[in-house]
This record gives sequence, structure tokens and C-alpha cells, in this order.
Amino acid sequence: MPFEELSYPDAPKIVTAVPGPKSREALAIQQRFESNVVSYSKAIPVAFEEGRGATIKDMDGNVFIDFFGGAGVLNVGHCNPDVLEAVRAQETKLTHALDFPTRPKLDLIQKLVAIAPGGMRDHSKVFFGGPTGSDAVEAAVKLAKFNTKRIGVLAFEGAYHGMTSGALAFSSGKKFKENFLPLLPEVHFAPYAYCYRCPFGKDDGSPDDCCMQCVEHVRRIFEDPHSGVVTPAAMLVEAIQGEGGSIVPPDRYLAELRKVADEFAVPLIVDEIQAGLGRTGKMFACEHSGTTPDLMTLSKGLGGIGYPLSACVCREEYDTWPPGSHIGTFRGQAVAMAAGFAAINFMEKHQLPDHAMTLGKRILKRLEELKEGSRYIGDVRGRGLMIGIEFVRDKTTKKPAEDAAREVRRRCYSKGLIVELGGHYNNVVRFLPPLVLTEGLADRGLDVFADSVREQERNR
Ligand SMILES: Cc1ncc(COP(=O)(O)O)c(C=O)c1O
Repeated sequence: MPFEELSYPDAPKIVTAVPGPKSREALAIQQRFESNVVSYSKAIPVAFEEGRGATIKDMDGNVFIDFFGGAGVLNVGHCNPDVLEAVRAQETKLTHALDFPTRPKLDLIQKLVAIAPGGMRDHSKVFFGGPTGSDAVEAAVKLAKFNTKRIGVLAFEGAYHGMTSGALAFSSGKKFKENFLPLLPEVHFAPYAYCYRCPFGKDDGSPDDCCMQCVEHVRRIFEDPHSGVVTPAAMLVEAIQGEGGSIVPPDRYLAELRKVADEFAVPLIVDEIQAGLGRTGKMFACEHSGTTPDLMTLSKGLGGIGYPLSACVCREEYDTWPPGSHIGTFRGQAVAMAAGFAAINFMEKHQLPDHAMTLGKRILKRLEELKEGSRYIGDVRGRGLMIGIEFVRDKTTKKPAEDAAREVRRRCYSKGLIVELGGHYNNVVRFLPPLVLTEGLADRGLDVFADSVREQERNR
């Protein structure tokens, strides 16, 4: 299928100042009636009306290229026609069925087991709980606890796993946690392989001479009787960190963590909620290193085009808990499951992971060129269509430039490109576009981004 047909052909097309009058009105109503806790629409003040493929239109008729993709949800694009067809067929038949078997559930669970990474393929089980990513993380940790009869979790600096108490406890962002403590006990954080800011000060060398001190650190935590960390129920890690700033560790990293997990009999939970389902050029990001998790969490793209759905896939031998140990009213949302199944079929039919990989390389090449001529861009990284551009005040000191990143985001949306920020210091512009992004849209989006960066440099 030519992906061109999925998106608005003329994006970006800006016909009013952004926000336009209708967006302003909608934002005012939102502010009056919805809690102050809303955040995205404060950073990007737009009210959206329609989405197609990798483009999105606001209420004033402005058409944006969407490099944010609903925070990595819309892998097959806004309103993907194949998925819509499956949704329409299902919604007139049966929409809700608790955990009774339904056709969409049977299709989806069989498909997930058939595409699961490495040794999990055809040797795993799927379970559902609440519909969000946070719910899947909670459920995976719960099952690891049940299997090990331990309580702690080893998580990683820069991690984001969600907002419910457990998922928040495993996330590293202090601003999310500081007013809500205590969360769960015995959660410890180890440094992640953030090579641009190596936690062990090795960021001047090439990743090839890296001796993986970050992995050695984890080994030492488990091995040293005085590390202060009792052997945990699980090690929970993102194969590529998303909210932490699109941090791509060396492939060896996850493979080495797997060895440490085996050495100390700690179940390895890989959170593929953001990086999974084709985004990084493989169906699951852990496949780049040939790593098989013990448990894997999925959400975001799993509901196809934004239907809330999350799941855990675990190796068969972990499926030890009795019926009813983990339940949830919405774990039988048949429309979401039909959407998810159709989305995975679409990905396979159109080799979407390969497309993401090829297009991602093209985007990274252009970003590298932009970095060369830029004072602000300290690092460009990514895999497939999970990309980060880290803004710094000074390329030698690497002092973060959050304000510059924020201004670039503003300049981008005012010209018709939606990007978001992340990273330890909120200084990383992140690209998470729908994977049906075309070369043409990618190039036009990058033109807007490059103009925005140059304008920001001129005005600093
Ligand atoms: C890696 C990862 N895990 C978990 C979550 C939490 O998912 P949700 O917001 O659906 O609860 C996110 C959300 O961004 C995520 O990126």
C-alpha cells in the first residue's frame, strides 16, 4: 500500500496563527472544566479534530505532520483504514466480554504468542488486566513476585513505567514522585546505559571500548552481600528508554543484563510499551540484542489506533498463579482487541518495522548533518522511528538546554510539526511518528524542524 494515501497530502498546512480561534475556545473550555492536571495541551496549545496516517488536523483547519503519534500509540497511523474496518465489524457484534473467550481475543493472544521475541515465541502465555501501560507493568511485577516470593524491584535511572503507585515507584522522575511518597518498598535504581552522559564517566570513548560498567554495577548489586539490595522479585527495564530521552543502549547491554538476571535467578521484565510493536525496526526492541525476556509488557500500539489495551506476555513456566489472582473489568474489550489484531496484521502485511528502520536511518542522517552545524544539538540518537535530539547549552559541558528545546517545540507546532520533549532534563526533542510516515512527510517535517532550530540559534 502506498502510505501516501493514508495521510493528508498537503501537510503541513497552516491557515491561522497557532492556536487558532477555535483551538483557543476549546482550550478555554478544557481549562474551565477539566482538572489542572492536563499537560500536553499546555505544552502544545491545539485542539485536534481529525487525524489521518501521520498527519493531524486541528479545529481551525491547520494540518500538522505528527512526529509525536499520540506518544507512540499510533504506529499504524491515525484512523488506519484496515483497523477501522475491523473495529466497525466488531462493534456491531460484541464489545465487552470480561475474560470469556471471544474471536478477537483468540486472534490476538494467538498472534502475540506467535510473534513473541526469541525463546518466548510459541512458549508463552498472555494475560490482560487494566487497559493502560501502567496496569501491565503492575501485573508483570505482581506475577514475578508470585513466582519468586520476593518483594523488591531493580529498575533503572531514566525509566518511565507509568503513574499508578507501583509503576510510579519503578519510574525515576523525581517530579512525578516527590509529593506522593511513600510508594512501594524495596525499589532500587541502577544506572542505565546512557552513553552520551555515561554514569561512569566514559562518555569520551567509543561505545566499542566500553566495558559495560553499568552492567557490572548491576552484577555487583546482586553479588555483594553488603550492597544493601536484597535480591529482588524482578529486574524491570526498557529495551530502549522512551521518556528518559530515546536512549538507545548498545545491543550488548540488554544481552548482558539477561546474563546477570540468569546468574542471580532474577526474572527479567522488558517493558516494550513504547518501543515495541514495530517502532524500532523489529517487532520488539529486545530482538535487536537477541534477548528473550521472562515477562514483557505491551500497550500503546496494542490497541491499534488508540483503543486502550495492555497485555503481559510471560514465558509459560511463569504462568503459575491460580485463576482470579489478577483480574480487571476491561480485560475483554473486544473492539480494542480486534483493532490490535488488525494493526499487527497491517504491520506484517506492509513490513512496517522494516519501513520504520529504513526511514529512521534517513532521518538520523539528516539530523546528524544538522547537529554538525548547530550549537545546541549535543546528541542525536535513535533506532527506527524512536528518535531523540538532545539540546545542550554547550557541547563540551553538555549543560542541558531545556528552554531551547521548549522553544524549538513551539516553533515547530506554529509551522505545522508536532514534536514532544523528554529526557532527564526535559531537553530532548523526541520523534515518535506513526510508522506509516512517508519519506516526503519525513523530509518536510525535518525541514520544519531544521528551520526551527536555526531560528532558535539566531535568536538566542
Ligand atoms: C515504557 C513505558 N512504560 C509504561 C508506560 C505507561 O503507560 P500508560 O501511560 O498507558 O499507563 C509508558 C507511557 O509512556 C511507557 O513509555
